[in-house]
Amino acid sequence: MQYLEIEPDQKPKGAVRISGAKNAALPLLASTILSKNSIDIKNLPDVTDINTMLKLLGMLGAKYDKHTHHMSIDGSTIDSTKATYDIVKTMRASILTLGPLLARFGHCEVSLPGGCAIGSRPVDIHLSALEQMGAEITIQDGYILATATDGLKGATIIFDKITVTGSENIIMASSLAYGTSTLINVAKEPEVVQLCEVLSDAGVDIQGIGTDTLTIVGTGQTLLDMKDFAVIPDRIEAGTYLCVGAITNTRMSITHANSTHLEAVLRKFGEMGFGIEIEDDTITIHPTKLILPVHITTTEYPGFPTDMQAQFMAVATQSDGTSVIDERLFENRYMHVAELNRMGANIKVNGSVATIENAPHSLTGTKVMATDLRASSCLILCALMANSTTTIDRIYHLDRGYENLEQKFRDLNIEIKRKRYDKN
Ligand code: UD1
Repeated sequence: MQYLEIEPDQKPKGAVRISGAKNAALPLLASTILSKNSIDIKNLPDVTDINTMLKLLGMLGAKYDKHTHHMSIDGSTIDSTKATYDIVKTMRASILTLGPLLARFGHCEVSLPGGCAIGSRPVDIHLSALEQMGAEITIQDGYILATATDGLKGATIIFDKITVTGSENIIMASSLAYGTSTLINVAKEPEVVQLCEVLSDAGVDIQGIGTDTLTIVGTGQTLLDMKDFAVIPDRIEAGTYLCVGAITNTRMSITHANSTHLEAVLRKFGEMGFGIEIEDDTITIHPTKLILPVHITTTEYPGFPTDMQAQFMAVATQSDGTSVIDERLFENRYMHVAELNRMGANIKVNGSVATIENAPHSLTGTKVMATDLRASSCLILCALMANSTTTIDRIYHLDRGYENLEQKFRDLNIEIKRKRYDKN
């Protein structure tokens, strides 16, 4: 089992390059199920979740040739319609194959994802939308069995809640449905927008891209002529590295980022006193005399992202005063709090609200455990401010979504060692 070891007193210097967005690449890869041709994808992040999605698509019959940051993939060869439990259990986003498989083949079997570290995370909204498009859905032995013998039918769907992968699934399903779908209360995340743009470039008539109402004219099971594209920059990786500058209160930059996707995050850095400078795709964070406390409510895009909550909590441990975070999207996304408190932070949780009390300005290095992808990065951030060595266990969570972590930190002059426990 691998772990990370981080020495204290390390300050960033220079700049780090931001990779392509995992959460954009996953639905885009799933969308190749709808394709009649091979395409090239650039700026692909080299993280395990991408390899998991490719493994799944490969099992379904897709052909691909992957290099570190680019690949070609041909979804037209897909001939299986079953996404098995052993793969879905390792990555919830496998559910993104449900909509396109059903739309293309008129039937599929996709394992239910089950629970995860940040809450129960149901897929009821995905299923209800597909039923409204004429699908018959039963749950059997932990699998979603979906059938639409004559193809999915366009429908007007009002999402009860804004769901990112739910929107993406139904956008893909609508693209190959018979007739027009109107999707209301759709997620507006940049990753959803890129999916719409790629489908639109493939010839699907999609109106309202970037708004919460989409009108999609389906092709009636005619496969799409997809075009090559490059994945948008990862706004969560970008925000996380800016937090390295923030928690250490040191000037540093990120490159190849898209600042327009980061407005809510950059505004919070400003409220905490940090200077932010944007030049083309480079964002520089400047130190402040005093790190001010912050109030954050996580919400859907363009609001403050839940995926940046843990990292800002880490920065708030260094603020002068009491910070408050209200996690509105997931019911159990404070697993990292216990670990931060073990490092000496003073954080109390009451329901969805976490209060980071008048924080100590130094934390204690100790052995801590990653609990989910973003929580792991908040532990690295705190380790940089600890007064002794920190070790972080269960780092497979990190590898799911942060590319080449040790090298990227090394680019910032920060040494993170990846070690392995002896077997005995
Ligand atoms: C996506 C992101 C994840 C991010 C989250 C919220 C990917 C691969 N993952 O996850 O990193 O944290 O958006 O920005 O893009 N819900 C239901 N029923 C459903 C679907 C969702 O009740 O059928 C609830 C969820 O439990 C949650 C809320 O809706 O409380 C939002 O979840 P959702 O947007 O669906 O998250 P994901 O798409 O799974």
